[in-house]
Amino acid sequence: MLFSISYTGANRGIGLGIAECCLVNGAAKIYSIDIGEAGDDFQNLSNQYPGQLFAIQADVTKEASISTAVDKIVEEAGALHGMVVNAGRTNHKSALDFTTEEIEALFSVNAVVRSILHCQRVPSTPYGASKAGIRNMTHTLAMEWAQHGIRVNSVSPGLVNTAMTYWVPQQPDWEQQLKYYGGFPRLAEVQELGGAYVYLLSDAASYTTSIDIPVNGVIGIC
Ligand SMILES: NC(=O)c1ccc[n+]([C@@H]2O[C@H](COP(=O)([O-])OP(=O)(O)OC[C@H]3O[C@@H](n4cnc5c(N)ncnc54)[C@H](O)[C@@H]3O)[C@@H](O)[C@H]2O)c1
Repeated sequence: MLFSISYTGANRGIGLGIAECCLVNGAAKIYSIDIGEAGDDFQNLSNQYPGQLFAIQADVTKEASISTAVDKIVEEAGALHGMVVNAGRTNHKSALDFTTEEIEALFSVNAVVRSILHCQRVPSTPYGASKAGIRNMTHTLAMEWAQHGIRVNSVSPGLVNTAMTYWVPQQPDWEQQLKYYGGFPRLAEVQELGGAYVYLLSDAASYTTSIDIPVNGVIGIC
């Protein structure tokens, strides 16, 4: 049984997809903490689950903004039983083309995300570095917070069909890549990641902390 869960960056994309999986699997209430406006996809899911899916506007790079959002959730829901730290961003360009401001902006969002993209073909070295840092942080936090009964795990999706990856199938050699990589010759749909999150958030994972679950069909993954 899943209780109240908050997701950062769940107004669209992977966050919204896994929110849907958790609702299907019995989550009582889900709160999306997102800097953007909730769009039609969010509204449609919210209509399917009346009184169970909410959007709260906040910026994960601003501590005060997040604290206010979490306080509001705890006040409304009574407690927060799980958190999925999903909000993230990237820029698609070579390492040497990144400006200091772009790297700082990317790290400040991704420093609070939980998933990792190991992919040599995605031209964003700072993105990879920020995600690798999350893996180590997951392990350290898990060790530190077990005494408080808090489990800390991560999920590492492969390439997923969202706004972040719109450019992937537009590469001129995309068909060639599909032919030679092996694995499933397509990107994942967001709902295909849900099982890993549902498991880690549920009591079935009560003795599971510090692990990473990769969910990928091989394409683009090194
Ligand atoms: N799409 C992929 O192939 C893929 C693969 C592996 C990991 N990931 C990671 O999964 C996460 C979600 O990716 P996605 O593809 O759904 O991206 P997306 O761009 O579709 O969604 C990201 C969401 O995060 C929100 N967000 C961005 N900055 C924020 C901030 N400062 N405060 C609050 N919310 C903010 C956005 O408004 C958006 O709703 C990211 O951390 C991404 O790096 C994506």
